[in-house]
Amino acid sequence: MSVNKEIKRITTHSIREMKVRGEKIAVLTGYDYSMARILDQAGIDVILVGDSAANVMAGYETTVPITLDEMLYHASAVVRAAKRSLVVVDLPFGTYQGDSSDALKAAVRVMKESGAHALKVEGGIEISDTVKRIVDAGIPVMGHLGLTPQSIYKFGTYTVRAKEEAEAEKLKSDARLLEDAGCFGVVLEKIPAKLAAEVTRDLTIPTIGIGAGAACDGQVLVVHDMLGINQDFKPKFLRQYLNLFDEISGAVTRYIADVKHAEFPNEKEQY
Ligand code: KIV
Repeated sequence: MSVNKEIKRITTHSIREMKVRGEKIAVLTGYDYSMARILDQAGIDVILVGDSAANVMAGYETTVPITLDEMLYHASAVVRAAKRSLVVVDLPFGTYQGDSSDALKAAVRVMKESGAHALKVEGGIEISDTVKRIVDAGIPVMGHLGLTPQSIYKFGTYTVRAKEEAEAEKLKSDARLLEDAGCFGVVLEKIPAKLAAEVTRDLTIPTIGIGAGAACDGQVLVVHDMLGINQDFKPKFLRQYLNLFDEISGAVTRYIADVKHAEFPNEKEQY
């Protein structure tokens, strides 16, 4: 008898239920088919096709240059791999900060052309009407507050945000606005843990923290950072689970030596 093991997909609804149950939500970024297969099969709840692809995949200094077509390429590859995880895709800088009908067109393109399950956008009151318009069209949206990397040239620094009262108050009010606009979750990046805990208590939707402390409903890391592929970025909040840079470099060095010494391939590795 064959057993049909049906894989139950994580949905925006299931991650809201996880908050209600007090079950933490595990999120990692993913940008390509092979890595996304590993993340999905390991049981990650959400794969975020982050615009951090601009940094770790394309080598740009900021996330600003990545285009909608480039995000579509990464998102489609991840969607093909993910059988269980919820796939959330960043709308890139410039596609949603202006006219809300242009934003909706960009959102619809990502959903139709990549097959993604949800989108993520950065900002609060400035984009809350746009968020509502996209959600009203039937597209789930995740918010992103705190250190929003698409605004790096406005901030001028990657330091912790919302340490001062005025910025903290704005962040709390932005979080409520995003929930009211229909967001199903919100990323809180690099803000004081106490503030993130307050926002997490205040919202009925899950908060996903990155450098925002343990009280958030879930955590997200950039996969290249937590695997130690990227050696140049070691902020305090990052836990590095592997040192893949050294692992890969060691394997490549051994391969080069084997080829140079005519030790690869051997008799068993040929036809
Ligand atoms: O683009 C990204 O990787 C992100 C996460 C760091 C939250 O937005």
